[in-house]
Amino acid sequence: MPSHAVGFCVAGLLSLPIVVGCSGGEDDVREEPTFWQDVAPIMMSKCVSCHQKEGIAHFPLDDYEVARERAGAIDDAVQSGRMPPFLVDHDGSCGDFQDDVTLTAGELDVIHRWAAGGRAEGKRAEGPAGLPPLPMLEDATEYRTPLVTPVVDPSNPLGANDEYRCYPMPAGIPGERFITGYQVVPGNPAIIHHAAVYVVNPSAPSYVDGKTNGEVMAEMDEASPERPGWDCFGGPGDAVVHHALPVTWAPGQNVVEYPKDVGLRIAPDDVMVVQMHYNLHGHGEDGGGSARHGGSEEADSTLIRLRYAESVKRSAMMLGYDGLLGSMFAGDPHSLPQGQANASYSWEVPREALDVAASVPALEVLGVMPHMHERGRTFEMSVSTGGQKECVARVDAWDFHWQGLYWYRTPPRIEASSLVGVTCTYDTRDAEGPVLPGWGTENEMCMSSFMVAPPAEP
Ligand code: HEC
Repeated sequence: MPSHAVGFCVAGLLSLPIVVGCSGGEDDVREEPTFWQDVAPIMMSKCVSCHQKEGIAHFPLDDYEVARERAGAIDDAVQSGRMPPFLVDHDGSCGDFQDDVTLTAGELDVIHRWAAGGRAEGKRAEGPAGLPPLPMLEDATEYRTPLVTPVVDPSNPLGANDEYRCYPMPAGIPGERFITGYQVVPGNPAIIHHAAVYVVNPSAPSYVDGKTNGEVMAEMDEASPERPGWDCFGGPGDAVVHHALPVTWAPGQNVVEYPKDVGLRIAPDDVMVVQMHYNLHGHGEDGGGSARHGGSEEADSTLIRLRYAESVKRSAMMLGYDGLLGSMFAGDPHSLPQGQANASYSWEVPREALDVAASVPALEVLGVMPHMHERGRTFEMSVSTGGQKECVARVDAWDFHWQGLYWYRTPPRIEASSLVGVTCTYDTRDAEGPVLPGWGTENEMCMSSFMVAPPAEP
């Protein structure tokens, strides 16, 4: 095997601003990358959190043989941007997001040269090929979801292998506090596809006339006395109104620190509702060293760690709007026409429709979470101020399975006079009638939830 090879220049392929080693001449002559020296460190930092023996992805990438066999697929998945999963466009054309989990141009180049070249093994370091150590959020309060064995319903249109279950989680705080960061540690990473924590005021009205959130949650809980919690799908449970969403977790995510001085307020009598998405799909079907079997004998109890501050300089709020779901309450539900590959739905509202007092000056959008159901295809959110429309978040290929809040590197601003809008498109070709809004699996939503805070003081 040659010890030197001509470096492959990715500039033409990728049109990335920074390209390693494409200056021509001597710089193009580099050592051929090896798995253990060059590729494994990238896998460890950007892939192995999911691609490990007990992970949600079905083949481990800290294993030379597996990686060598799949090198072509790995190269294709990273060059095309499919892996690691990152749903919102982050090429700078619509919003500037914190995307450190994705690969740099240099890393893409190393993987390509290794996959297209000799796929050399190199020399593995002595000792156990340890996984990257799990970072820990300091000074956190710990909560645990009950130990539950998911029950899957083969007739569930969302997925015969999925269960969405919600559990109440009393905050247990002595007074008002502000959440400033979080960490989710799945008990059984192979079956946890996502987790979210909603904050609900139990004495506030629910979406059901005359009932409080607390009453609606108690009814749902009582409906299945043999198991903890209740079924829930689009949020903390049908008809429960939440006022904050401090935690959204998907595999691969570790410690989340809110921006400096920012916190989400929580009151002592608020109830946190944890939504767990269990998925028993496909573990081990594909071999590759992962011996998952799937099946209802697998249980989970997930650790949720929250960090509280007694006060913060910038009290954040979660805003959310869904014109499609909203039409249901206005008594004249909009619907999506059936039989279309690209049925489109748009809403645009002034800022006061988001329940922000007009006296509140400009707000910065810190993070955004797009939300549609299974028929969703694309999502685009904009903020219009003084006739100027700014694209702030776009999803080109929606995947219901990768829910999450995406943090901005450069937060867009919403002024008191701004309009906020979203356009969603859906594939309704398999629908048997018009698709109505709602929380159910057969219904659709076109929702944006986003965290805002007053701008940092200069
Ligand atoms: C957040 C979790 C996660 C991370 C991080 C992740 N993957 Fe994946 N990956 C998955 C899951 C789940 C699947 C299987 C389901 C699917 O295809 O969507 C998958 C499938 C794949 C596949 C086969 C399907 C395809 O699209 O080609 C390849 C190859 C792959 N991953 C490579 C990588 C590489 C290389 C990295 C790191 C640069 C990485 N993945 C990071 C979760 C992840």
